[in-house]
Amino acid sequence: MNAVRFPAGFRLEQLRRDHPRKGFLSGQPMVDEWLATKALQQQTKHLSVTKVLLDENGALAGYYTLTPAQIDFCDLPAELVRRLPHRMLPAAVLAWLGVNTTHQRRGLGSQLLGQALRDCWEGGKIFPFVLVILDCVDKKAKSFYEKCGFAALPGQPYRLFVSAQQLDAMMQP
Ligand SMILES: CC(C)(COP(=O)(O)OP(=O)(O)OC[C@H]1O[C@@H](n2cnc3c(N)ncnc32)[C@H](O)[C@@H]1OP(=O)(O)O)[C@@H](O)C(=O)NCCC(=O)NCCS
Repeated sequence: MNAVRFPAGFRLEQLRRDHPRKGFLSGQPMVDEWLATKALQQQTKHLSVTKVLLDENGALAGYYTLTPAQIDFCDLPAELVRRLPHRMLPAAVLAWLGVNTTHQRRGLGSQLLGQALRDCWEGGKIFPFVLVILDCVDKKAKSFYEKCGFAALPGQPYRLFVSAQQLDAMMQP
């Protein structure tokens, strides 16, 4: 996967107080509410990092939030944990991702996902993890992530993952 190129005039920045986060509408209220009320607070507490994509007018076109987690090896596919210790294992979590309705269906969601995975991959060189996980909010979101290579964890149809090995392969130019 090559480095992500957002459309001309768009820029990705770490969330700040002066970003217009309250007017963001993705069509999924939970995704909008997180950005409006929690994202900055949680970032200040070093619990997560949120990056926002601003369009050429400085309006918020999309965002994603990453956070670390630990996941029990019992919850992972057998082929993934075969050579791993039987304990809690480090994971990177794509906690939230959304595109403003006015910008949807133009590839921005895929680009933000690509950038979020690249951030995970870069971060994993210093703080390693065995997989990237995310929880889908609905069937539509699930189909979006499946198109990008995510698969469901055993017995958890709405919790999707890509392994660190898959991520390595994805990030090869
Ligand atoms: C899911 C979301 C991020 C996709 O953003 P987007 O910019 O519209 O996505 P893209 O234009 O990059 O589309 C990527 C692929 O997903 C598909 N897709 C996008 N939205 C879809 C939808 N609502 N239903 C089904 N498929 C969809 C597209 O057809 C496209 O596939 P293609 O490349 O084969 O044509 C966006 O619809 C959104 O913000 N939804 C509300 C919030 C949400 O559900 N977030 C995810 C859970 S946290």
